[in-house]
Amino acid sequence: MTTAQTTVREIAVENPASIRIFEKFGIDYCCGGRKPLAEACAERALEPAAVLAAIEAAAQPAGHAAADWSTASLAALCTHIVTTHHEYIRREIPRVRRFAQKVVARHGADHPELPRIQVLVKTVGEDLVQHLGKEELILFPWIASLERNMATCGPPSLGCAGAMKHPIRVMMAEHDAAGEMLEEIRELSHDCTPPEGACPTYLGFYQALSEFGRDLRRHVHLENNILFPRAIELEESRG
Ligand SMILES: [Fe+2]
Ligand SMILES: [Fe+2]
Repeated sequence: MTTAQTTVREIAVENPASIRIFEKFGIDYCCGGRKPLAEACAERALEPAAVLAAIEAAAQPAGHAAADWSTASLAALCTHIVTTHHEYIRREIPRVRRFAQKVVARHGADHPELPRIQVLVKTVGEDLVQHLGKEELILFPWIASLERNMATCGPPSLGCAGAMKHPIRVMMAEHDAAGEMLEEIRELSHDCTPPEGACPTYLGFYQALSEFGRDLRRHVHLENNILFPRAIELEESRG
């Protein structure tokens, strides 16, 4: 049963519909989701009972549940992450960078935070593209091969027991680094709120940044809170 003492991360894993509620209330369910709901609510001056009620109301009706990634195959989850979130990042980064360039050229002199946001966008974009490559070329195939081998009782997959923890730790540190850059962007942009009378490019830029942050949180949640713990558990069960 979900209570105020359940961690935000657990609630997000068990009830994916809660993610929209956490987003609405500004509760971090991703990298900062390892704390009880009561603590996360206290930080944002929210009443835990009100948040719990909203989560309960948002629960998907039976038969209409979103994909349950806590039981789907790990290979299917990896494919979902690549086709949904990795492709989104690759498509979106050039667009966000073009927006940044235009907005800085037109408004950078009046808004000194914009050049810094542009630098952060460039860095986080370059870092993430490298990060996706490592997941797609090394970690995800490794996870899928471990799962296949476990299912067929074939020879042990690549690597020695417990070895997968190391690249996973590196991936999680990279998630934290990207999350910190996006948090700085959020603060500099006043939560992606454009100034009064902003031009359409400015509005589009902040809208794109806001969506980019939301997608990254959903993406990192699937990896940090579901895929990685399940992969580690599977590898450890091999003995
Ligand atoms: Fe990823
Ligand atoms: Fe990742």
